[in-house]
Amino acid sequence: MNRREFLRLRPTKPSPASPAYPIVREAGSPRQYAPGSLVWVQSARAWLGCDEIGFFAIAADCPEGGCMVQYTGGGYICVCRKRRCDAVGYPLDAADEASLRYVEVNLDSGGNLIIHLDRTVSPQDRFIA
Ligand code: FES
Repeated sequence: MNRREFLRLRPTKPSPASPAYPIVREAGSPRQYAPGSLVWVQSARAWLGCDEIGFFAIAADCPEGGCMVQYTGGGYICVCRKRRCDAVGYPLDAADEASLRYVEVNLDSGGNLIIHLDRTVSPQDRFIA
């Protein structure tokens, strides 16, 4: 048996489950989003959402210790000690824990959405494009 035949017989790893949200490298044009959409923006390490009012972004850093929070389809969970937040980022397990951080969304000079992780905003703030 040669190397090629051996590699063909080797068991392959199962592919990871699809995430519960689409992934984009950059946020891009606001025209590509419909109300109700939520995408993971790789370059910003944040979720970009669009509702009937406008755009919002939620930073992926857990407020407890900075681990990356995962979106589960109906809320968020921190991989560290399984701290859970609901779909709008409020803690589910202890009311005195911090909510996920909403950050500013606006447009760059090319008309593309940008997410400012360094600018915290109110969860009610929306960017209207
Ligand atoms: S960093 Fe999220 S619970 Fe520890």
